[in-house]
Amino acid sequence: MTVATSQAEPRLQPLRSALPAPGRFDGPGGVPAAAGIGLRHPHLPAFLEGRPAVAWLEVHSENFLAAGGPRREALRRIRADYPVSCHGVGLSLGSADGLDDTHLARLRDLFAEIEPGLISEHVAWSVAEGDYLNDLLPLPYTREALEVLCRNVDRAQEAFGRRILVENPSTYLQFAAAEMSEPEFLSETVRRTGCGLLLDVNNVFVSAANHGFDPHAYLEALPAEAVGEIHVAGHAETEVDGQRLLIDDHGSRVADGVWELLAAALALSGPVPVLVEWDTAVPALEVLLGEAAHAQHVLLSSWPAGERRHAG
Ligand SMILES: [Fe+2]
Repeated sequence: MTVATSQAEPRLQPLRSALPAPGRFDGPGGVPAAAGIGLRHPHLPAFLEGRPAVAWLEVHSENFLAAGGPRREALRRIRADYPVSCHGVGLSLGSADGLDDTHLARLRDLFAEIEPGLISEHVAWSVAEGDYLNDLLPLPYTREALEVLCRNVDRAQEAFGRRILVENPSTYLQFAAAEMSEPEFLSETVRRTGCGLLLDVNNVFVSAANHGFDPHAYLEALPAEAVGEIHVAGHAETEVDGQRLLIDDHGSRVADGVWELLAAALALSGPVPVLVEWDTAVPALEVLLGEAAHAQHVLLSSWPAGERRHAG
């Protein structure tokens, strides 16, 4: 793949040599290559009281930042029984202003206490000149935005002392100023920073439908060995000015086409943790666990039995 910025020398990353082998990112609380679910507030009591059977849990880091409070204590107790992944929504890796020192320090303290197996954030921006916007906004895929993103990923990995995964967004517009495709932008970020990818196949499905690209060609253009986790989620369908538009709302069951894309992604990446995301109109826990069971079925169906040794 020819990337417009490939002539630029990557910055030296002393941290990189200390990071785990590319593609598999187990930290102290190793997250298995199995299906997990996002832990949402209504289900907290069930996990504290009943320990339902699921391979691992993902939490939104920003919901647990307050040190010493009841929420952090609840997460500590859950962490004693489950591998946990911390998924951030507030670091704003795409901000040209750089990262917020206070936010970085609070995240670092959370990770030191909880020891998550995986840490991830979005390829997006949500902070400008100190104003926090309640959205994950898209980046233009330009050389300048790539520099900003890589600088911020470097900074986050240095602050946390470990590799992070960055997540591909769902998008509803494309920038006329773009100088490379999204897979090229993500691949170059991986190459320069040594970070991994959180591949959200629902986001790929949504963006592909909205922009009319081939989702399988998108998957094949990514560095498969850098994929450390996969997300699946539900999306909604609407119509704008007579045009079909998919909205990544995480508010329903995973669509059949997304399950198929999950199988295609796993065939490329090999066994990795798969997370069912459901953030709006959160259903009964049994529904989420049913979706996770389906994800586990897809995981186990994606390789011949002899190649499943990593899949839990
Ligand atoms: Fe996601």
